[in-house]
Amino acid sequence: MACIRVVLALSLTRINALSTTAAPTKTLFLAKPTVNAEALLQHFAAHGCCVTDVDAHTRFAFVQFESDADANRALALENGPYREAKRAHASINDRNATAAAAWDALCAKLRGVTAGAVVPRSHADRVAARLAARGHETLAVEQVGVERLLLLRTRDPAAFAAETSADAVLAGVCVPLALDGHKPVTDVAAAADEIDELLRDASAGASTRVRVRTSPPALAAEITRRLEGATAYALAPGQADLEAHVAVVDRAYVCGVVAAPNREQARRKQVASRAYFKLEEALDLAGVEDLHGSHALDLGAAPGGWTESLLDRGASVVAVDPGALNESVGARPGVRHIQKKSQAARNDGDLDGERFDVFVCDMCLHEPGDAVAALEACAPHLKPGALVVLAIKLTQPAKSTALNDKRAEPYVERLRPLLDGAAAHHLVASRTRERTVVGRWRGS
Ligand SMILES: C[S@@+](CC[C@H](N)C(=O)[O-])C[C@H]1O[C@@H](n2cnc3c(N)ncnc32)[C@H](O)[C@@H]1O
Repeated sequence: MACIRVVLALSLTRINALSTTAAPTKTLFLAKPTVNAEALLQHFAAHGCCVTDVDAHTRFAFVQFESDADANRALALENGPYREAKRAHASINDRNATAAAAWDALCAKLRGVTAGAVVPRSHADRVAARLAARGHETLAVEQVGVERLLLLRTRDPAAFAAETSADAVLAGVCVPLALDGHKPVTDVAAAADEIDELLRDASAGASTRVRVRTSPPALAAEITRRLEGATAYALAPGQADLEAHVAVVDRAYVCGVVAAPNREQARRKQVASRAYFKLEEALDLAGVEDLHGSHALDLGAAPGGWTESLLDRGASVVAVDPGALNESVGARPGVRHIQKKSQAARNDGDLDGERFDVFVCDMCLHEPGDAVAALEACAPHLKPGALVVLAIKLTQPAKSTALNDKRAEPYVERLRPLLDGAAAHHLVASRTRERTVVGRWRGS
């Protein structure tokens, strides 16, 4: 009898399968008990079965045993008010074991996760590739509404959030989250508690401003509500010193807290056109940082995003386009705008005597092959080894990425003999129908 600790609860004890690990709970379920809890206890104790908890109701009772052996011994008893329990016992334990195993598998999946990135579905692969190039490994991809949550292993989650917010290409398409996959919790209340603890540790005082970011976004309101009334920090939806991050993965809540990215850094650069970010990305992929001393030819330059990117990296630029350049770009030193079509510029001798270290082409043409022809036509003006970045804009795009890759392939093949190290990319900043080829001019 010494081992019996009786708790007669009036309410149904919640069997929290998620809080268990792999071992099933040692619970015997008694349907419609015909005797009261005390009698039930005495019966089991008399047969040497150690009971740790009894939770009796008018229709049901749950008995928890010290060990599986005790539960099995109780089940083997011939008589008693628990005949219907045998089948129920097995099914409850099976269910608990299944839930516990699923939770363990989820925890194992999350264990290496240190960060997350919420991205549009169409960008998931491209963002993952860009993050991989920066050393952030995607461990899994989760569906969150119409978006995707990349679960990542990063070296430094705080630096990851700041770095991603400062990356001009990623900032527009990706919400970075710092997450600790080692400590998943099972419900929103526990997540709010975890966040509160992390914030109290990180807070510099009551005036420390905190913003909440979540995946899915709708969860932020619930977490914020639960943090209201905290005195160690102040909730602030706008400018913040700390960011609290929570992501729901399956049934697990994963949390993290980081210093809020610097607003100035995080603000997207004001540029002549969105295309600026395409060339930035292509130059990053080519490993080109500095273009000081380089002379660049930009075909299809208006309104000026690519020209601006080249200027920002130190190149001088001949920008060819019948359209107007954005004033902020056209007025910069180092730009010569030839306001003509590229054929006319060549035919009129506007490029005579010019030799370029960089050739970029983002022209919208009737046929993607015309861009390859434009490069070939400029051959006399290109130095050997010149950097080439050429956009292939499919005029008959397909819906799937793979099919568009296939449709772009003939044009990439035409470029291979002309370029060393030719590589075709589907850039994060590009539309579905566009591929960008980067390589080095092979000609003499
Ligand atoms: C997508 S926009 C280029 C955007 C530009 N790269 C930027 O960063 O702002 C395509 C441009 O190609 C130009 N274009 C089309 N055919 C051309 C040609 N034959 N010669 C020069 N430019 C051309 C158009 O006038 C248009 O401004």
